[in-house]
Amino acid sequence: MAPTAYVQPIADSTSVFKADLFKGKVLFCTGGGSGICRGMTEAMMRHGAKATIVGRKLDRLQQTAKELTAATGQECLPTQADVRQPATLKEAVAKTIEKFGRIDFVICGAAGNFLAPISGVSENAFKTVLEIDTMGTYNTIKATIEHVRASKGAYIHVSATLHYNGQYLFSYHPSSPISLHRKKLTISDLDPSCSTGTPYQVHVSAAKAGVDALSAVLAVEEGPHGVRSNVIAPGPIAGTEGMDRLTPKNTGADHVYHGHPTGRQGDVKDIANATIFLFSPAASYITGQVLPVDGGSEHLRSQF
Ligand code: HXC
Repeated sequence: MAPTAYVQPIADSTSVFKADLFKGKVLFCTGGGSGICRGMTEAMMRHGAKATIVGRKLDRLQQTAKELTAATGQECLPTQADVRQPATLKEAVAKTIEKFGRIDFVICGAAGNFLAPISGVSENAFKTVLEIDTMGTYNTIKATIEHVRASKGAYIHVSATLHYNGQYLFSYHPSSPISLHRKKLTISDLDPSCSTGTPYQVHVSAAKAGVDALSAVLAVEEGPHGVRSNVIAPGPIAGTEGMDRLTPKNTGADHVYHGHPTGRQGDVKDIANATIFLFSPAASYITGQVLPVDGGSEHLRSQF
């Protein structure tokens, strides 16, 4: 079978963390079949963790699990579930406990996105993204909390930076018309002066703000039980489905990074490294926080 899409292997040799950091620990990751969450899972496995990856497409999960085990030598359980359906999540948790006996870490990463103006986002479309991102996070917390309490473990929620400030979407390039809500659109259709909201991302902005709030409350309520909860807010991460959905190919989208502190897009390894740190004992006094991993673009909010 061909390798799964949106794969950025995390090389062993580049890690600055101890190889057995998470030995004996178990990760439960929604959205782990591909992209950023797959990379986060691989990094945890490369540092000794076993993992359950959860998603809607079983064949992709099975292929990913096979590849991750081959790359890391750790066990990986592929489990089909839809984060919008609590019963399927509970079943995935039960299978994890049956196989591994515990859950230490949870990544709430399942997400959905597309570009559309408010007028083009139907009630069902808005609800769908909130159900995947926000309700899906709530459902995952509810399904796992008892086990994470037992292990005094931690959560990482994958958010975005779209709702912290207005972003002049990097996807738009004057010479590259793209498809937006089933019509062609160019940079001239946009208002580049937006500074308080990211256009065409009303659904995801609302959904991820909810995710941030869920994480903060979880941190406060569960802190006394030894559970930590933090958010990673990825900026533009190259080679992921999210970026593909927001940026047309071959647009020279890098042009907008010239003014950013790091002058580049991120890669999955950047998110993976932040994940290892936040789950490690080195972060034991960090909870209820949002960590943007975006090359510093968050600091440029007023300049977009
Ligand atoms: C407007 C759209 C649309 C679009 C779908 N819809 N695509 N509306 N513009 N481009 C509408 C549909 O018409 C429908 O509404 C409603 O959304 C639900 O669509 P379905 O296809 O029936 O839902 P479903 O199959 O559950 O798919 C959910 C999805 C899809 C979110 C629409 O895109 C998906 O499965 N995505 C998962 C993968 C993904 O998006 N990964 C990227 C995450 S990146 P009506 O009214 O017609 O019924 C990310 C980070 C963002 O989240 C930050 C990056 C920087």
